[in-house]
Amino acid sequence: MEDTVQAAITRALPELAGADPVVRRSEHADFQSNAALALAKPARRRPADLASALAAALQDQVPAALAGVSVSGPGFLNITLPDAVLWRQVAGRLAGPRLGVGTPHAGQRTLIDYSAPNIAKEMHVGHLRTTIIGDCLARVLGFLGAEVIRQNHLGDWGTQFGMLIQYLDEHPDSAWHHDQLAAGTSTVSALDALYRAARAAFDADPAFADRSRARVVALQAGDPPTVAVWRDIVAESELAFREIYDRLGVQLTPEDSAGESFYNPLLPGIVEELTDAGIAVASDGALCVFFDDIAGPDGSLVPLMVRKRDGGYGYDTTDLATIRYRIRDLKADRILYVVDARQALHFRMVFTAARRAAWLGDDVQVEHVAFGTVLGPDGRPFKTRSGETVKLMDLLNAAVDRARAVVADKATDLGDEELDRIAEQAGIGSVKYADLSTSRTKDYMFDVDRMVSFAGNTGVYLQYAHTRICSILRKAPADAVELDPAVSLHPAERALVLALDGFADTLTEVGRTLEPHRLCGYLFTLAKTFTDFYEACPVLTAENSAARGNRLALCSLTAQTLRQGLNLLGIAAPERL
Ligand code: ARG
Repeated sequence: MEDTVQAAITRALPELAGADPVVRRSEHADFQSNAALALAKPARRRPADLASALAAALQDQVPAALAGVSVSGPGFLNITLPDAVLWRQVAGRLAGPRLGVGTPHAGQRTLIDYSAPNIAKEMHVGHLRTTIIGDCLARVLGFLGAEVIRQNHLGDWGTQFGMLIQYLDEHPDSAWHHDQLAAGTSTVSALDALYRAARAAFDADPAFADRSRARVVALQAGDPPTVAVWRDIVAESELAFREIYDRLGVQLTPEDSAGESFYNPLLPGIVEELTDAGIAVASDGALCVFFDDIAGPDGSLVPLMVRKRDGGYGYDTTDLATIRYRIRDLKADRILYVVDARQALHFRMVFTAARRAAWLGDDVQVEHVAFGTVLGPDGRPFKTRSGETVKLMDLLNAAVDRARAVVADKATDLGDEELDRIAEQAGIGSVKYADLSTSRTKDYMFDVDRMVSFAGNTGVYLQYAHTRICSILRKAPADAVELDPAVSLHPAERALVLALDGFADTLTEVGRTLEPHRLCGYLFTLAKTFTDFYEACPVLTAENSAARGNRLALCSLTAQTLRQGLNLLGIAAPERL
């Protein structure tokens, strides 16, 4: 609708075409424009005079395009749209599946690096945000038309695998395969324990340490039996990650996995290219890339480590190979790294090095989509009581258990099976919503009780708002949803129409800022606006069938918008709770 107002202004003063007057939602009218204020200076006129002239010119468009125009303050234009225009907007959205949202990102190949857990280790609370935020951004940007490439940069390579494989070899009775384990025990938790045992043996027994080092060399040289065990470990770990992804409803698939090992064959070439270009230089036996402006807390320059003194490659070299591959081979236009804020320096160095190497030009946009830390009740990074990292599976179970109690309290007529299903949807949804609704770069406290509450800005509140509208719609005959644009709008209906109209702009903003909390905030306001509407305007018992048809149309569009919005957040929208 903002475009409608914008067009009316340009029609009124054609010499303004090309200038970009701002139109916003307003408390004083449907919309407010600062066109006169912005254009007074270049036009060498007083803002108030220009505003009156503009208002007079806009009067010509009443009543077809506009309902009212007035000047307020130093030269703002308050603009109200005719009721029929607003109703027709609702009808237009109801007619198509996209709810009025365009595809501004069409033609953009957008690569999103997210989740990236480490093989043979359990996913923990530290993987929650990257997984949830990354998945939400993939959904939103995809809906806005981008061609999304999801990439799971698994930590599947490194010297620790030599140690683990050697240990497994020497302890053939260790159970870690999913078919050897009791239900409810995951492969990665078994591997995690075996890895710890291997580490202890490595530290305690020099002979085992030597055999482990030899195993690393064998793995890197592609020794078939060693590689076979490594592959098995990777496959089993991925199976365990998949359980979490399925539970979270995360859209990553096995095809999206391109772990660190994938780039391993490219590393010598990367080093050679950077050395030949003089970008990587020898330093104390290692090869490094230095940056004039990047220093650590003690003031000494922090480099990217391209090759270690022992000749090995690490995380830095892999990320250099990765960025080149993503630009050159995958031909990404935009690359998003959804990774903890604590890696900001690493990515700044990787991006700068890629620019120097001319892999990364101005035609490609790279961004570190940083996020804050999940804190425990004590305000410190979330740990278990015994000081260990919190397993993601345990955290999800805790939320689902709390949700089951809350839902059972509210809906006592549910059978066990239905209660389980709803508790799962509400519990998982509440964890995701709590995360996404926090401004991305801030830390937040993991508080299960607050998360699963039916009151306040929570996932459960939104899911519940959606089910309430579904239940209204279920009680009306399908053909009763019929829109008559000639009916005049009640103020509460008007507020709801204008709120619904904000969906597309909200998504555009999320696509620009990569901040899902904007979508959460929008949906929460929409749900509250609906509640106000429903209190003021009876729907099923409306005064006549025209009013009822229009209100049902508003119910239907609100339900669809909430459903689509929740879907873009990756949250289920069940029909009943
Ligand atoms: N596996 C890494 C970690 O757990 C995250 C990888 C992020 N992606 C990247 N391209 N570096 O910290």
